[in-house]
Amino acid sequence: MPTGANHGYRRNTMGFNRKDGFYHRAKREGKRSRAAYKLEELHRRYRLFTPSARILELGAAPGGWTEFIAGIVGRRGLVVGLDLLPMAGLPTPPCRLLQADITATDSPERIREIAPHPFDGVVSDMAPNLTGIRTTDEARALEVDRAALALARTVLRPGGFFLIKVFQSPDLAAFKDELCARFDGLTATRPEASRKSSAELYLLARGFQPDAQD
Ligand SMILES: C[S@@+](CC[C@H](N)C(=O)[O-])C[C@H]1O[C@@H](n2cnc3c(N)ncnc32)[C@H](O)[C@@H]1O
Repeated sequence: MPTGANHGYRRNTMGFNRKDGFYHRAKREGKRSRAAYKLEELHRRYRLFTPSARILELGAAPGGWTEFIAGIVGRRGLVVGLDLLPMAGLPTPPCRLLQADITATDSPERIREIAPHPFDGVVSDMAPNLTGIRTTDEARALEVDRAALALARTVLRPGGFFLIKVFQSPDLAAFKDELCARFDGLTATRPEASRKSSAELYLLARGFQPDAQD
């Protein structure tokens, strides 16, 4: 996915500027994606990553977030970056890359093969390809969100965090309830670097509480 590609629902298409200030900044600064600025901002606000941390990243291509996280966790940490698309050129350690579909039943097993120990955090910037049919797109987005949560429940350590990009939709409240049932606290936030026209927001769930079924 080239820098500046957009998988986000648009509030409107009038005035949508693919090549906004963050796009040009990403080009100038040699970033893999403008999305990196969103994560930088969220990290400044919430101190998500620490040296040596173990992070699972869902929807990682082309690697803007991966690069940022790797710079903080360092060689003693781990970033497993999963995406449908191939990625290359990221430092090993701490990066390990997995080309996979989050909704495939063998994804948890493939992640455990790479990283058998629990993760401190799971982050997801996934966005399915859009059809333009609102109800279909909302259902697809929620399908990957629920797959991400199901996966997070199997790989997070107790007390770990889960950050996920979501799109506003009528079913979002139910998804938030699912998060609240598993985590101590939930914060909904929108970085400045999100396009003004996008209906995306990020949910940060902290304090994972596994239950007997996890
Ligand atoms: C907005 S991009 C991520 C950008 C990334 N955070 C960065 O900074 O470079 C969304 C990614 O989600 C991936 N994706 C969408 N559906 C997926 C799925 N079912 N399984 C795995 N990855 C998926 C897409 O292939 C795409 O690369």
